[in-house]
Amino acid sequence: VNSALYRYKKTNFLFKDPMRPKDLDALLDLELRPTDVFVVTYPKSGTVWMQQILVQIMDAAHPEQAEDLINRNRVPWVEDRLFDEPFRDRPDPRYFGSHLPVDMLPRDVKNKNLKVVYVWRNPRDVLVSLYHFSEAWVFLESPKSFEDFFQDFLNGDVYMGSWFDHVRGYQAERDRLQIHFMKFEDMLKDLRGEVEKLCLFLGHSLTEEQMDRVVETSTFNNMKVNPKANYKDLVEKERYSKNTMRKGVAGDWKNHFTVAQNERFDQVFKEKMRDVSLSCSWE
Ligand code: PPS
Repeated sequence: VNSALYRYKKTNFLFKDPMRPKDLDALLDLELRPTDVFVVTYPKSGTVWMQQILVQIMDAAHPEQAEDLINRNRVPWVEDRLFDEPFRDRPDPRYFGSHLPVDMLPRDVKNKNLKVVYVWRNPRDVLVSLYHFSEAWVFLESPKSFEDFFQDFLNGDVYMGSWFDHVRGYQAERDRLQIHFMKFEDMLKDLRGEVEKLCLFLGHSLTEEQMDRVVETSTFNNMKVNPKANYKDLVEKERYSKNTMRKGVAGDWKNHFTVAQNERFDQVFKEKMRDVSLSCSWE
């Protein structure tokens, strides 16, 4: 792939991550609780946004458990936190984030019928966001050019492998998982409506006022200035060279793709997603 990544089980992981293949294998046997909830995303598809939404929902539904921590520590990546005992001892319900493909999730997710929220986004905008992120995150290799990165993305030679395989994997397991699909673009259009559906799936009933607060604190502009929500600490620690709350819009790919790249993308998309029944319209 490239010098920052190693390939394991058709997915690409970071050398700089503490996880190694043996740890990823051990993760399959991680013991989970039936009340645990997983938020799964391919990178740059709305993870940080969902973390903010979930923290707000948790605080509304379980005010006695509210904690003064950054969102990343309240909805941690499962692949980062396997060995983190304090996190294992957290009270119910625990929320985990993950970028893992479906066949690398802990087996308990399926065996204990855990709730999974899968957030996905127009892959053209994912590509653009990941391109900028690759420049911003010190652990990734900066792309040589946009065209280079574009081709790597189509080939699945980027962080966390192929977008197409990721989405197809979750879609293929949808009848065997308790899974709720959410589209980034639907959240942009009608955040309140999407949060209401999410609460229904999670089994939380929020008051109008609580719902107002979730929606208000989860807008792009408010998250951008909220250090608990925007990963500012990582900029300060020089892990990110810039704020990754970048634009937060749909359609930025139109400012990056050439006509020829768009045609190539469409062709690959049609071929790879032809038997996928999820609605792939983003307009
Ligand atoms: S990561 O690194 O994989 O966890 O990134 P992830 O959080 O999945 O995706 C980052 C993109 O999500 C945008 N974002 C938002 N957009 C709209 N509204 C809100 N509230 C919001 N929060 C995060 C963020 O800006 C990244 O997208 P781009 O296109 O780069 O701006």
